Amino acid sequence: MALHSGALQIFENNVGVSDAVLLDPVTEDVFIKNIQDRFQHQQIYTYIGNVVVSVNPYEKLPLYNHSVVEEYRSRNIYELPPHIYAIADDAYRSMRDRSLDQCIIISGESGSGKTEASKVIMQYVAEVSGKGQEIDRVKEQLLQSNPVLEAFGNAKTTRNDNSSRFGKYMDIEFDYKGDPVGGVITNYLLEKSRVAVQSNGERSFHIFYQLLRCGDPKLLSALKLVADPHKYNFLNTSGCTDVETINDAADFAAVQNGLKIIGFRGEEITALWQLVAAILKLGNVQFSPRTNADNTDGCDLSTPKEVEEAAGLLGCSYDTLAHALMHRTVAVKGDMVTTDLSVPASYYARDALCKAIYSRMFSWLVNRINDSIKQDSISRSRDKHKLVRGGQRTKVMGVLDIYGFEVFETSQGQSNSFEQFIINYCNEKLQQIFIELTLKEEQEEYIKEGIEWIHVEYFNNAVICELIEKSVSGILSLLDEECLRPGNTTDRTFLAKLDERCAGHPHYESRNCRKNQSDKTLPHDAFRLRHYAGNVTYKVEGFLDKNNDLLFRDLSQSMHKCRHLLLQALFPEGNPSEKSLRRPATAGTQFKISVTELMKNLLSKNPNYIRCIKPNDFKRPKKLDLQIVTHQVRYLGLMENVRVRRAGYAFRQVYEPFLYRYKMLADKTWPHWHGAPQEGVKEILQQQQISQDEYAFGKTKIFVRNPKLLFDMEERRRERMHYLATLIQKIWKGYYQHKLFLIMKAAQVVISARFRGYWAHKQYKATQRATLIIQCYARGWKAREILRALKLAKKRQLAATTIRRYYMGYKARVLLAQLKLAKKQRLAVTTISSHYRGYKARVLLAQLKLAKKQRLAVTTISSHYRGYKARVLLAQLKLAKKQRLAVTTISSHYRGYKARLLLAHLKDLKRQNLAAVVIQKYARAMQARHLLASMKRERREYWAQGVILKYFRGWQVRRVFKPKFRRIAGPKVARFVKTALKRRYLLKLRDSLPSMSPISQDWPAAPRRFKTTSEVLCKLFHRWRCAKYRQRFDEKSRHRMREKVTASDIFKDKKEIYPPTVPVPFKGDYVGLSQNLKWQKTYKPTDDAYVVFADNVMKINRADGKMVSKLMVISSQAVLLLDPKSLALKYRIPLNLVTKISTSPFKDKLIVFHLQKQENGDVLTKKGDFVFSNDNLVEIVAKVVMVIQQLTGKQPEVQVSQRMVAEFKGHTVEVSFNNGQPEVQSGNVRITRKGNRLDIIQT
Ligand SMILES: Nc1ncnc2c1ncn2[C@@H]1O[C@H](COP(=O)(O)OP(=O)(O)OP(=O)(O)O)[C@@H](O)[C@H]1O
Ligand SMILES: [Mg+2]
Repeated sequence: MALHSGALQIFENNVGVSDAVLLDPVTEDVFIKNIQDRFQHQQIYTYIGNVVVSVNPYEKLPLYNHSVVEEYRSRNIYELPPHIYAIADDAYRSMRDRSLDQCIIISGESGSGKTEASKVIMQYVAEVSGKGQEIDRVKEQLLQSNPVLEAFGNAKTTRNDNSSRFGKYMDIEFDYKGDPVGGVITNYLLEKSRVAVQSNGERSFHIFYQLLRCGDPKLLSALKLVADPHKYNFLNTSGCTDVETINDAADFAAVQNGLKIIGFRGEEITALWQLVAAILKLGNVQFSPRTNADNTDGCDLSTPKEVEEAAGLLGCSYDTLAHALMHRTVAVKGDMVTTDLSVPASYYARDALCKAIYSRMFSWLVNRINDSIKQDSISRSRDKHKLVRGGQRTKVMGVLDIYGFEVFETSQGQSNSFEQFIINYCNEKLQQIFIELTLKEEQEEYIKEGIEWIHVEYFNNAVICELIEKSVSGILSLLDEECLRPGNTTDRTFLAKLDERCAGHPHYESRNCRKNQSDKTLPHDAFRLRHYAGNVTYKVEGFLDKNNDLLFRDLSQSMHKCRHLLLQALFPEGNPSEKSLRRPATAGTQFKISVTELMKNLLSKNPNYIRCIKPNDFKRPKKLDLQIVTHQVRYLGLMENVRVRRAGYAFRQVYEPFLYRYKMLADKTWPHWHGAPQEGVKEILQQQQISQDEYAFGKTKIFVRNPKLLFDMEERRRERMHYLATLIQKIWKGYYQHKLFLIMKAAQVVISARFRGYWAHKQYKATQRATLIIQCYARGWKAREILRALKLAKKRQLAATTIRRYYMGYKARVLLAQLKLAKKQRLAVTTISSHYRGYKARVLLAQLKLAKKQRLAVTTISSHYRGYKARVLLAQLKLAKKQRLAVTTISSHYRGYKARLLLAHLKDLKRQNLAAVVIQKYARAMQARHLLASMKRERREYWAQGVILKYFRGWQVRRVFKPKFRRIAGPKVARFVKTALKRRYLLKLRDSLPSMSPISQDWPAAPRRFKTTSEVLCKLFHRWRCAKYRQRFDEKSRHRMREKVTASDIFKDKKEIYPPTVPVPFKGDYVGLSQNLKWQKTYKPTDDAYVVFADNVMKINRADGKMVSKLMVISSQAVLLLDPKSLALKYRIPLNLVTKISTSPFKDKLIVFHLQKQENGDVLTKKGDFVFSNDNLVEIVAKVVMVIQQLTGKQPEVQVSQRMVAEFKGHTVEVSFNNGQPEVQSGNVRITRKGNRLDIIQT
């Protein structure tokens, strides 16, 4: 097995057999030899199954360091060489993992290494359990309780330099994680007699020496102590104060450190030292004898200083203490009587007081440690070993380290007393447990469970235990009886009683017993018990006193009165108010009770054993005394243990828990087994293919022979658990991931929706931007176009305005010039006319003046006399008249002139007014035009502003997006524009599709770029609408169409009457023949039942060209010619005989059916070809052609010609069609037959 790098060589070469069960042969010699060999190779541990046999090496071996701990940590017990760590680990894991309370019982005689083993266990547990501030504190306190308790409870004996003088059972409490959370220490009967007296070569409790040797001088002076143990009677009588192997200084330092770590307060520690010092002081108190007046013995203090100092330390008065030491108060018939004590009695009282103080102080110490190491929150259940915290029970691991079996050799001046009796009784009980559980119960269990078993003999020490503890006749009962018996009872009377009651017991020996009368080795004041570990001779001296353990009331009361911190609490019985008449239980009984309780406690837990062996009596390393070892091997019953173990089964368990633990190892038992648990276990073992020799089925339990199997199963379980955990993890992870997936999926849907939204938004924005850019460009372009147009328009406008202005100006100027001219002319005319008139008037005036002068001269001459007066009068009158006339003329002239002037002026005014109105009108018009122009300009400016702004924005956008545009948007825009153009084209096309008529030739014009597309689409559309058109047809219509198409093929552009027939649907049965009952009756059963065509036709007589009316019926087989009224069949022309059909290109409605010439001279064929006339020529021909094709699969020839040849009754006749009068196109015909010619002339 590879070890940790720090592990030691010691493990590498395993010597001998590590498990004694595997020894062969199983004899004591071989067993001891194996132990010896291993011991000599420093392998001090050997297993017997799961029991560890440990041999004290008496030297420090490198077995207990951290790396070794790490090696053993969580390893199965048999994986590594035997070690206490292995058993500690096993117990720890069982406790932690299976919740089984554990106890580790360490047994062996004094000096065999029990205390060391217990410390190793605690150290291991501390190392492997969890870490943490609180946990570490608890661990430290638990560990530090050891040096403190060892200092106060251990002492050097002849057998062991560090012998435990008290029993210790420590319960370490763990939480569910396996971390220590506290502990409880139970102490058992301290060997307090050691305080006062020690055997030769022994020491008192370590603490006395430690305090004296290593105490701080100040402390010692405060305690009134001197640093020399020899100065103290309690320490100097045995002659041993210093021990080579003991380092008091280091130990005292450890004690002080421990006290601090455990949490002792300063005053508590001082109180402890005061008590220790007081005991030493009291030990030095000496008494001198005194005879009282009443002749009774009394005593005096010869060392009052010691008493005074002791009283000072205990906090009481000198008198109180001195009085208590030297007096005794007893109740006599209800009265309290104080008597003096004799010197020995005073010494007894002194020693008793010191022992009481020390043992009670020790118990207080243990309780005080318990107070510290127990969990605050722990509340204890009734059973003090079962702890309850927060309603949850903690797990417990108990370690029992009790004083080992002890026997002093009387030959060496030592004697075994009450203490040894008690110690050995305790060891008997432990041995009993061991026997009970490993030998007796085990064997009984095999039998009970029905397992085949050969009984192994062993020594059962129950009989010795019974001898000691039996309730009535046991030694302890007899001792109590003797203690309590009134009258004079002494140790001797006790011995006599023992002799009387126990003489017959095989394990009791005494000089008074007949069987030992001659045994000189047995003193008269002693009895011998044949213990499991050997014979021990107990001197009876002191048995009663020690069992009584009485302290005089004076002493307890005085102690209770002390002001010392502890004493009052240590001596509660000293309280006068709590006086109890009940006698306290004797020391023996108390011990019996506590041991019984301990046994009960141990039995309630899963036991683990460490059997310690002392190799020699000299505490020497590497020396193994075979005799001593053999003795121990025998009394410890190790060989029996090996035998039972070897023959038996290493492990057993009730089926249910076994099944529960390993049910995952079989498919059928996992996760639930519904059958009997045993069957389930069987199933598991079978599936694991475990050999049947390896196990056995008991009635209620499974027995596993070899622990290896169990370890294997544990390993498989671990692997399986690992697998199951992984499986659960996997499923959980799967579930979790699935849930996560669903959430993520939902989230993904949201995200993708959001992203799509975002993407679409982005796309939209990009498109919008692109559109904006395009728009900008387009608008820019448009704006520029508009601007250009506007500019042009403006220029034009401006030019027009200028031109108009110029023109207007010119016009105005011309008008003005004209006006001016007119005015000038008018003025000139007026002037000229006024000049002329003036001239005229002047001429007239001159004429008048001349005439007047002439008339005056005449008058003067003619009338010289006649009147000079008359003339004078006349002259006067005439003159007056002439003057008046002249005046009138002149005034009229003047008036006329004035009127003319006025008129001219008025005219001028009118003209001026007109001109003003015109000018005003022009001015207003100009103003209006100006206003209009300015309004237009404003509007244009406003509009131009908008355009410019848009242009500017466009320019801005272009500037920002130009670089991107060229690279990204350019192609996109191009694509977009192309797509937009296509879309626009297609949408426009959609909106302007031509009619659905297949003959429609309309098709919207397309831009040049879509010309090809347009053509393709046009074709597609046409095909599609044709298809649509066709789809509308039912079979009948399709057939009609076929007929029409056939007609078209035959007649289109060939026959003049064809075009008008195109839109006229073919009717077929023009005479309603199908409904005619006569027809139905006659022709229904024939092949001609189906009427393809029926109409009255004119049959052309082939002889003379005359026409006869017949009913022509075209059936699916033949052409029938019937009598129109009687429907009697005249001719039946089978259509398969019709080889050719002829018709003219003109308007006539003649058809010639050319028939096949039959060789057999058929009547029909003899008659020759048929000529008919019918308005529905086109329909007849089309239908006949189709029927013939259907019948024969071949189309007959259709000839449209002006001339043709026909066979009439065997004659070949040339038929010619002539257009008689082309201007008359009635379609009527005239037919003439001349010889072999048939002329058909259309009229
Ligand atoms: N494993 C060990 N390694 C080294 N020395 C050991 C070991 N076990 C015991 N010793 C030595 O033996 C001495 C006696 O051991 P220990 O005190 O444990 O005996 P014990 O069985 O408790 O005796 P007692 O019953 O008197 O208390 C120790 O002081 C120590 O020196
Ligand atoms: Mg011990």
